[in-house]
Amino acid sequence: MLCFTENTVASLHRIFYPFFMTLNPEWTHDFSMDSFSQIEKHLPIPTFSNEEKVKVGNGYWASPIGLAAGLDKNATAIDFFSKLSFGAVEVGTVTLRPQSGNTYPRLMRIISKRSLRNRMGFNNQGSHLIFKNIIKANRYHKLLGVNIGKNKDSTEEEAFVEYQMLYQKFATIADYLVINISSPNTPGLRLLQSKKTLQNLLMSLDEVRIKTPKDLFIKISPDLSSKDLEEIIEVAIEKKITGIIATNTTIMPEYGTGGISGGLLKALAKSIQKRCLEIAHGHLEVIGVGGVDSFDDLWEFWSEGGRVMQIYSSFIYQGPKILININEQIKKLKIKYQLNNTEELISFARSTPGASFK
Ligand SMILES: Cc1cc2nc3c(=O)[nH]c(=O)nc-3n(C[C@H](O)[C@H](O)[C@H](O)COP(=O)(O)O)c2cc1C
Repeated sequence: MLCFTENTVASLHRIFYPFFMTLNPEWTHDFSMDSFSQIEKHLPIPTFSNEEKVKVGNGYWASPIGLAAGLDKNATAIDFFSKLSFGAVEVGTVTLRPQSGNTYPRLMRIISKRSLRNRMGFNNQGSHLIFKNIIKANRYHKLLGVNIGKNKDSTEEEAFVEYQMLYQKFATIADYLVINISSPNTPGLRLLQSKKTLQNLLMSLDEVRIKTPKDLFIKISPDLSSKDLEEIIEVAIEKKITGIIATNTTIMPEYGTGGISGGLLKALAKSIQKRCLEIAHGHLEVIGVGGVDSFDDLWEFWSEGGRVMQIYSSFIYQGPKILININEQIKKLKIKYQLNNTEELISFARSTPGASFK
């Protein structure tokens, strides 16, 4: 039996990267997802200590970097991602009924900017099959988030019922749930972010949340006005939501239709995350996502009061090397500043602005 490590997977990524970048992006994604389940068998069961854990809501992330939604839409590679040093794995977006998504091509690379443009449109196998996939996964003690969304052709009222049904179904097996109301690729979805509609949506979830309480996040768009952002946070606090995931992809018509992620999104996502942290003022968790591609981004987020972040695009461009680099840096800094655990390092970054993180 072959024995791989995270470093082996990082080397495989480095070797195949130049070739893969010449191939169709969605084909490469699907091929990689199929390979992951093969590679997973050769990876050791991950271990992590209490010193590495970070508390988010009612759960503990095994490290401060999680996998963002959209890469494992159908929850077919949970065990592969759990065996890497991700702190938590988020699957989906899952819709109630299966749907095929938008027409091809719908995933494009902007390599020079370390960015992606996608107009996938929630292609997924639907809640029934994805539920089965999750049940089959081992998860290796990593937290699992399930990101839920509405079907493309559903009206607003139907969407409320769908979120309710999806919450009810997945709250029994997920560690946290995410209401996705921010993808730019589903017509009308972002309208659910408006104050009154969001209040109604969250009210319709009250009943199922009382029955099966679970950490619940709202994933927001980076293209919100500051008034809309303030209102969302106000509603989230009022409705006792665990936190906000900031942000989804942005719209940049100069690059074409769809949502932009990675380097091109970074500055905008950072400004929204900073604003979220300021407005929420400790009353909500804020999970940062958007263009995170090094430990420097995590440190900056910590210094602003954030705790954990997620990645998607940088995992495509750097592979597991990004996780290895970030974790090495965390270890080094704990030794340098004589800190016992990652929680202490996060507090140190927050309370010592200007401290060197190199
Ligand atoms: C191809 C692709 C598909 C995505 N699908 C989803 C999705 O289904 N649900 C979701 O909440 N976010 C989705 N996202 C957004 C990511 O989760 C993330 O918020 C965004 O890409 C910004 O992070 P990044 O700059 O690290 O990629 C998708 C992103 C990409 C590139």
